[in-house]
Amino acid sequence: MTNEVKVWDLFVRVFHWSLVGAFVVAWFSEDVQRLHVLSGYTVAGLVLSRIVWGFIGSRHARFSDFVPTAGEFIDYMKAMLRGRPPHYTGHNPAGGAMIIALLASLLFTALSGIATYGSEGKGPLVGLMSSLGKDAGGAIEEVHEFFANLTVLLVGLHVAGVIAGSLLHRENLIRAMVTGRKRNH
Ligand code: HEM
Ligand code: HEM
Repeated sequence: MTNEVKVWDLFVRVFHWSLVGAFVVAWFSEDVQRLHVLSGYTVAGLVLSRIVWGFIGSRHARFSDFVPTAGEFIDYMKAMLRGRPPHYTGHNPAGGAMIIALLASLLFTALSGIATYGSEGKGPLVGLMSSLGKDAGGAIEEVHEFFANLTVLLVGLHVAGVIAGSLLHRENLIRAMVTGRKRNH
């Protein structure tokens, strides 16, 4: 279509749908440890590479393009409550803030998972966890569970935001995350 521009580069799109896949597998595989650890490490690797891409990627993939200031975020939320949020070609300020929350929560989930794994005598954090004493394992597993649940909550809000944004602007944001193209205004 003539009135469309390329917004999401290939990296962002492959990253997004791989992340969804790896996260879903990790969430449902806690009883199959090999699969859980493999999918969990995949989430960690994807998030770390996305952070690097946030500095060197294409225009709308960069943190500098979408991390909002507090003022921008508040103004956008007010406009959204009035039902008239302005249209953004890249991420809107609410979406941008959510991305940071998602990436941080995913990273804490994976890190605390690796620490829990370490408390079971496996993985790279065995030394650290054994130096913290025998009660640390149970505590860190609680932390791991907390962040996994927090991430699921954020994902729910994220998907609700995507659907709301799609309806308000009559544009299919989910399709845009597949094709990489969005309306140019
Ligand atoms: C495990 C579940 C999910 C996670 C962790 C997640 C995470 C993310 C992240 C980190 C981004 C930022 C993309 C970037 O710039 O790199 C994003 C964007 C996006 N996600 Fe998801 N997502 C999840 C599920 C979904 C689902 C199920 C949908 C569709 C219903 C979806 C639709 C989108 C769309 C449309 C965007 C672009 C938002 C915009 O237009 O500003 N996501 N997601
Ligand atoms: C990032 C995505 C991940 C998600 C969504 C996730 C989710 C979960 C959940 C919901 C539990 C159950 C917690 C409980 O009921 O106590 C769990 C347990 C666990 N996770 Fe993860 N996890 C992730 C990543 C990882 C990683 C990267 C590792 C290690 C390399 C890991 C290692 C573990 C271990 C060792 C347990 C305890 C299982 C047991 O011994 O019963 N997780 N995870």
